Amino acid sequence: MLAHAEPGAGAADGVVGTLNRPDGPALTVRTVTDADVEGLDALFQGLSTKDRRHRFFGLCHPAREFLQQLTRAEDEGGYRLVAAVAGPGGALVAEAGYAILPDGDGEFALTVAPGWQGWRLGHRLLGAVVAAAAARGVPNLQADIMAGNTRMLALLRRRGYITLAREELSEIRIAIGAAQPARRRQPGNAEPLGPLVSGTLASCAPAA
Ligand SMILES: CC(C)(COP(=O)(O)OP(=O)(O)OC[C@H]1O[C@@H](n2cnc3c(N)ncnc32)[C@H](O)[C@@H]1OP(=O)(O)O)[C@@H](O)C(=O)NCCC(=O)NCCS
Repeated sequence: MLAHAEPGAGAADGVVGTLNRPDGPALTVRTVTDADVEGLDALFQGLSTKDRRHRFFGLCHPAREFLQQLTRAEDEGGYRLVAAVAGPGGALVAEAGYAILPDGDGEFALTVAPGWQGWRLGHRLLGAVVAAAAARGVPNLQADIMAGNTRMLALLRRRGYITLAREELSEIRIAIGAAQPARRRQPGNAEPLGPLVSGTLASCAPAA
């Protein structure tokens, strides 16, 4: 297990940690670069229709300009991580980050590739993004979440969120604290979140 001290502090190579999955390849978690446009394109191409709708609120694949904007996160005051299969040219299997809003909060979003969902990668990446926001003085992270996005809501519930607005029954606007992240324990969720980035991923899918 490789560990870096402060998630979001920005190691020279942008690497903030390594994650291992017992039955799969290791992942390198690093800040996004402009060389990641194709990798992000492939990650989003690989999403199911449902996941694409949850991430982009529509069925369309994101335009290239949007992908390029994701890679420029830090230039525009935001922050974005990608998780790539370790080794040269490793595919991107997840992305997570935020862009700065006019009120100083961040607007966050994340994606985990279908073959990597259910291993707490989303939890780890969101934790790292919240830590980066806190280190940069961003008070809260906001997001629009579709009401039917149960995995994302489960992930947020564990962290503790407030509802800012509700759009009909289909969508909610939520916020999580970054400067003082709330970590609410849920009954039956006794497992601590653990180190933010580095470590071993463990399945959280219900036993069959
Ligand atoms: C939402 C998303 C990021 C979650 O990533 P993930 O790595 O699978 O999430 P985690 O493994 O950390 O688990 C998140 C929660 O979902 C639950 N979950 C995971 N797999 C599950 C499954 N097969 N069945 C039911 N619940 C499941 C977990 O138990 C966990 O809840 P808990 O903390 O209460 O136990 C991922 O599903 C995704 O990319 N979805 C499409 C894009 C999207 O919706 N993005 C969010 C909007 S911005």
